[in-house]
Amino acid sequence: MTTTLLVTGGAGFIGANFVHMLAELRPDWRIVNLDALTYAGNLENLEGPDGPAGKANYSFVHGDITKPEDVEKAFASAAGSTGAGTLAVVHFAAESHVDRSILGGLPFVNTNVVGTQVLLDAARRHHVARFVHVSTDEVYGSLGPTGLFTEETPLAPNSPYSASKTGSDLLVRAACHTHGFPGLITRCSNNYGPYQFPEKFLPLMIANASEQKPIPVYGDGQQVRDWLYVRDHCEALLAVLEKGVAGEVYNIGGNNELTNLQLVRAVLKELGQPESLITYVKDRPGHDRRYAIDASKIRRELGWAPRFTFAEALPLTIRWYRAHQAWLGRVRSGAYREYYARQYGGR
Ligand code: NAD
Ligand code: TYD
Repeated sequence: MTTTLLVTGGAGFIGANFVHMLAELRPDWRIVNLDALTYAGNLENLEGPDGPAGKANYSFVHGDITKPEDVEKAFASAAGSTGAGTLAVVHFAAESHVDRSILGGLPFVNTNVVGTQVLLDAARRHHVARFVHVSTDEVYGSLGPTGLFTEETPLAPNSPYSASKTGSDLLVRAACHTHGFPGLITRCSNNYGPYQFPEKFLPLMIANASEQKPIPVYGDGQQVRDWLYVRDHCEALLAVLEKGVAGEVYNIGGNNELTNLQLVRAVLKELGQPESLITYVKDRPGHDRRYAIDASKIRRELGWAPRFTFAEALPLTIRWYRAHQAWLGRVRSGAYREYYARQYGGR
């Protein structure tokens, strides 16, 4: 039976990695990618000789999840190719950067909250079999020096980004509860790997260190994040899509806690650059101190565990950025956005 998957935000960091992975692991699935191509969306992430963009079973719909007519177009395209098969959704599209949300929360509420409700309404109308909502551990707020986030930890978001993601989680929960909607929520820790937009800490420091530019460390650099290689996250999402129980929440994490300073030092060592590049700057307002995930539920119930250790995947990631200097240069210069403005009339 045909499976058609509508992926939102497939031109972004994790979405693009997920679409690449499906081309390898589920080559018979049809993929429809709905993406607005904001500053963070880049079709180049899906191109290249082995890229999914060239495949006959992949199609792209340029559209905004906050616009019901765009979402309907994507569902019509996906449903049209499904026939008697299964139609499912994996929802990545979001405004995703905490620092930008501090500068202005409105785009976060629009895309993350309003956009998710627009998608939920359309998904119900089209009787999707599954809807995986890709969320974040940041909805749980901040931990002290000990303890882990479980799926039962109360939601206590601290930034406009995490508050808007919490709003979207609650809308998915409400759709499940009220309408018997087949939604599943995943909450993952910090990802790293290929195609991450260089506003995020890891690609930003790789880019800066490669040019011997200062690496800005917020506050004292003792904040803790649980770093997971993006391919492991993508495999967890596939497990939730195929084997998860509708209505459930699944935490996803790498059991790999590092302070920001430990992370910077590991990157500098790998690049052969001096620690003198570390530059302490003003702390992020409301900066969450520590995130750490208890991922025992997904391990126990769906058999998922990370396959990559940090010691393996950090060098892989650094090698990828070094081999894709031209990609990095275009993303940082904004040249690809000028291309989209020409190609798509500035939307
Ligand atoms: P990203 O910013 O790299 O990509 C977001 C994508 O969504 C882009 O392609 C963008 O064009 C698209 N998009 C944004 N607004 C849109 C709209 N209104 N309509 C349609 N498309 C739109 O984000 P990412 O890091 O790949 O994160 C993907 C998802 O995973 C997000 O929901 C995020 O909250 C979640 N998440 C990310 C991390 C992480 O470490 N990056 C960790 C846990 C969860
Ligand atoms: P980030 O990649 O923005 O992810 P998140 O805020 O969603 O966890 O930041 C990761 C950590 O690195 C976070 O504690 C903030 C910190 N950070 C810096 O110290 N300097 C920087 O320039 C950036 C972008 C982040």
